[in-house]
Amino acid sequence: MNSFSFYNPVKLIFGKGQLESLQTELPNYGKKVLVVYGGGSIKKNGLYDEVMDTLNQAGLEIFELGGVEPNPRITTARKGVEICKKENIDVLLAVGGGSVIDCTKLIACGATYDGDAWDFVSRKAQPQGALPFGTVLTIAATGSEMNAGSVITNEETQEKYGWGSPFSFPKFSILDPTYTMSVPENHTVYGIVDMMSHIFEQYFNNASHTPVQDRMCEGVLKAVIETAPKLMEDLQSYEHRETIMFAGTIALNKFLEMGYRGDWGTHNIEHAVSAVYDIPHAGGLAILFPQWMRHNAKENPSKFAQLAVRVFDVDPEGKTEEAIAFEGIDRLQEFWTSLGAPTKLDYYGIDDSKIDLMAEKAMVYGEFGNFAKLNGEDVKQILQASL
Ligand code: NZQ
Ligand code: ZN
Repeated sequence: MNSFSFYNPVKLIFGKGQLESLQTELPNYGKKVLVVYGGGSIKKNGLYDEVMDTLNQAGLEIFELGGVEPNPRITTARKGVEICKKENIDVLLAVGGGSVIDCTKLIACGATYDGDAWDFVSRKAQPQGALPFGTVLTIAATGSEMNAGSVITNEETQEKYGWGSPFSFPKFSILDPTYTMSVPENHTVYGIVDMMSHIFEQYFNNASHTPVQDRMCEGVLKAVIETAPKLMEDLQSYEHRETIMFAGTIALNKFLEMGYRGDWGTHNIEHAVSAVYDIPHAGGLAILFPQWMRHNAKENPSKFAQLAVRVFDVDPEGKTEEAIAFEGIDRLQEFWTSLGAPTKLDYYGIDDSKIDLMAEKAMVYGEFGNFAKLNGEDVKQILQASL
């Protein structure tokens, strides 16, 4: 394990009825609130009305920015920054999924910056401050509610990059699983694939001898694998929504990344794919992750074999490490397929015509991956195998 320091200041407020705590949390940061939300799901499921009632009861002055896109765009974040500056907003409230929260993170940092908010995403500048913001999470997936990361798309230049800063942690996040019950089947599956992928990214890392972290990762994966099929049978189950929501947060609040750097190569490739094709993030991961695993398991099979035996119950008896590893990868892909996730890029109408462009975008900062270094040729091979 490598030396590390750990910092996560997010106040997590979890469970039924916790929306009420908005009344005590938000006024700590001022009076003028900008509520940021997505394409309308919160209006359909009634959460919008509940949030507005609560904020009105708390005597707050409310401003709104709706219409944040899945794969949130810089143009929308810029609109939010403009509102904050013009109206002297004190605090932001993201009500939605990873896209809404990520967009809010950029608005919060951009609001205290004189230049263009894209500078943070393109790494031209580092935030020096931010407006405070809280979140009400509506879909279990990214972990954005309890981390400082944000992923933003520039639709003009077809770029999608992650960025983050000590200033982009939410002050608080409210997670009531009840509000995830309206998430449709496909996005429920995407969320499950995303959180499992986050655990894989960390499980495959640049350290050796990490028995505590390995068991923590394997434990969360096991719980997700046991719960996911039951949830797909009953999307209204509070109990299963609760398990999956908690798992999504734990999977990427960095508790599982102490003592090493996770690989994160597959996420880098996926962001390049969705920059060019605007597909759902975890739809891309469901296709790419098994291919990343196959690409690397031959050379370095032992961790893949450990995963296969401990999480996917592969019987190791009489098999080589490599055979065990590959059986585990097949089981992972079968599991995701059984939930309804795609296995090939042509599911989204993607063919080989833009492989070079996607590889070029993935390689913008050079070779990447902390478990397995990938160069442009590796990326192309993984994409080719995913077609
Ligand atoms: O926009 P609305 O109408 O709200 O609909 C959304 C959207 O269509 C819908 N939805 C959300 N909550 C719902 C609901 N529908 C019904 N009932 C509800 N309660 O679900 C759709 C997807 O929402 P989105 O926020 O896009 O999903 P997700 O949370 O998966 O976020 C995806 C984005 O996060 C980035 C991805 O790249 C992508 O841009 N990521 C962010 C990370 C982070 N900040 O740490 C890490 C991830 O790896 C990821 O890259
Ligand atoms: Zn992800």
